[in-house]
Amino acid sequence: MTTGTTLTKFILEMQRSYPEAKGEFTSLLNDIATAAKIVTREVRKAGLVDILGGTGKENVHGEKVQKLDVFANETFIKHLEHTGYLAAFASEEMDDFCPVPEYYPRGKYIMVMDPLDGSSNIDVNISIGTIFCIFKRVSKGDHPDVNDFLQCGRNIVAAGYVIYGSSTMLVYSTGQGVHGFTLDPSVGEFLLSHEGIKVPEKGKNYSINEGNYAIWDDWTKRYIEKTKEKREKSLRYVGTLVADAHRTLLKGGVFLYPGDKKNPKGKLRLLYECFPMAYLFEQAGGIATDGKMRILDKTPSELHERSPLIIGSKTDVEEVLNFIKEGM
Ligand code: AHG
Ligand code: MN
Ligand code: MN
Repeated sequence: MTTGTTLTKFILEMQRSYPEAKGEFTSLLNDIATAAKIVTREVRKAGLVDILGGTGKENVHGEKVQKLDVFANETFIKHLEHTGYLAAFASEEMDDFCPVPEYYPRGKYIMVMDPLDGSSNIDVNISIGTIFCIFKRVSKGDHPDVNDFLQCGRNIVAAGYVIYGSSTMLVYSTGQGVHGFTLDPSVGEFLLSHEGIKVPEKGKNYSINEGNYAIWDDWTKRYIEKTKEKREKSLRYVGTLVADAHRTLLKGGVFLYPGDKKNPKGKLRLLYECFPMAYLFEQAGGIATDGKMRILDKTPSELHERSPLIIGSKTDVEEVLNFIKEGM
């Protein structure tokens, strides 16, 4: 489809060309786009209004909650809970899942999200993001339950992210490839800019927080030392998963947030950071693994479970897996 097609037109045309395409997502993705525009507005003026900084509160992970995290969480829920497609939400910012209020129709999907990814970068004007993924409910009747959220990654029906960077982009997949839309602020529309994103077979960047070197497992040390020796890759690390993943998706290479001696399960959350990125990378021809198994083959046992994450180009991730095998 032609660059510049609006998100709405693109989704409708996709429905026509993919009979199995899920029409229900038209409204949902449009409402996600609306919420993304509102968060963009706050992000773009964050330096001017009192939306920077912390709320003085901590989330379930003991991390300081920034005002923008709360604002983003409330904005996405407010714009999605009325659609009639969702029955409940789970989010990094909420200890437990949150059913859609009973005065709205509860639909057959549930959504998990990281409403504001990269919080530590908010007040230094570095790219941040929102990450989401959608499952079909498994619970019957009126009341969703936690098992709707503790599903295998293979059950994901749609996933995506918004990156609030030099421009705001919405990147998503509903199982028919990965597509990117760039917000044109002059018309307030997301316009198609990256149709059918494919991760290059190999890339020129590796992305990891080298500050954790001292607690890395041996295989991680060996892989990074070897990568440095070969001098074929540059280190690029933003510290916002959405930004590091977006660069890796478009340019190839590998992003790693591995387990280490202090946190064997790593730092990133399986449900709303690893799963959505894994779904997108696999849809784009890349690989997403925790070092032992494909991320999408995992099933969380609790909402905020953490997982090591290695995503990127097929060739580059396979090289990492070889180092892990040698180290076993
Ligand atoms: P969040 O702001 O949603 O808590 O996520 C932060 C995550 C992720 O965005 C990023 O990849 C990672 O934290 C960076 O962690 P380090 O600062 O330990 O490198
Ligand atoms: Mn977050
Ligand atoms: Mn995050």
